[in-house]
Amino acid sequence: MQIFHHIQSLRDSLAAERRAGKRIGFVPTMGNLHAGHIALIKQAQTTNDIVVCSIFVNGLQFGLNEDWDKYPRTFREDCDKLKAAGCNYLFHPDDAEMYPNGLDTQTRVICPTMTDVLCGASRPGHFEGVTTVVSKLFNIVQPDEAVFGIKDYQQLAVIRRMTEDLCMPIQITAAPIHREDDGLAMSSRNSYLKPDERSRVTQLYQCLTTTAEKIRQGARDFDALESEAKAAITAAGFRPDYFSICNSKTLAPAAHDDKRITILGAMFTAGARLIDNISIELP
Ligand code: PAJ
Repeated sequence: MQIFHHIQSLRDSLAAERRAGKRIGFVPTMGNLHAGHIALIKQAQTTNDIVVCSIFVNGLQFGLNEDWDKYPRTFREDCDKLKAAGCNYLFHPDDAEMYPNGLDTQTRVICPTMTDVLCGASRPGHFEGVTTVVSKLFNIVQPDEAVFGIKDYQQLAVIRRMTEDLCMPIQITAAPIHREDDGLAMSSRNSYLKPDERSRVTQLYQCLTTTAEKIRQGARDFDALESEAKAAITAAGFRPDYFSICNSKTLAPAAHDDKRITILGAMFTAGARLIDNISIELP
């Protein structure tokens, strides 16, 4: 695996691959890689000749009181995992390389309506940071395909919309949510969980599966279902951020006759903020 810290040298190498007719797949990450990330690399390998992974803890997508400084940085271990997975290129820029004019970068990519809700409502500016850095990474890598996890469903939907709106010639592929044996969605932020919380945090996933089952069986009072789930999360000792039954494409509140529904939930534990989701297709 070749490791690059600078945009120009990565561009030169990828240009040579492109000239040789290679199809390039891309997996952007913030590092601290777990099996969910590695599954994205494997997914990208199935349809591309070359796979590029990036590791960059993007300051622009963290709020002032968020965890940018304590976000786990495990570069050596990440490299070992990527090499073992057969990743070809790793791009690991520093802040100055990605933001030559500093974090008050004047040019930003925004996708307003879809980012005012759900995670965007409680993390103002977060998605603007994501769409801006992903656009920059897309410009640097110029991949044929980029793979994103369904774990961050809203992020995936926003990036799909951004590539459509800006006519970016990049296929966006969704990869399934990797879970621990008890159902907890894998996340770098799970390391923030306090030992006494770990066994109870599966409540979020349980609420998602229970709500999905009720909808499959015909329940359509979505407000009531959302309130029940929030009450169950509170009863398990956590603070719900949101629990919302949405149209899978637009992320607007689901209409009673929507066929593709995604249920998204977020909750605060003592140590972390966890998100998860489940999608259902109705006949
Ligand atoms: P990060 O949280 O490191 O996630 C990188 C990619 O891994 C994202 O596409 C995310 O959805 C996916 N992922 C994380 N946990 C997963 C799981 N349990 N199962 C499947 N996929 C999972 O998301 C980001 O970084 C950043 O916002 C980024 C897109 C890199 C922009 O900075």
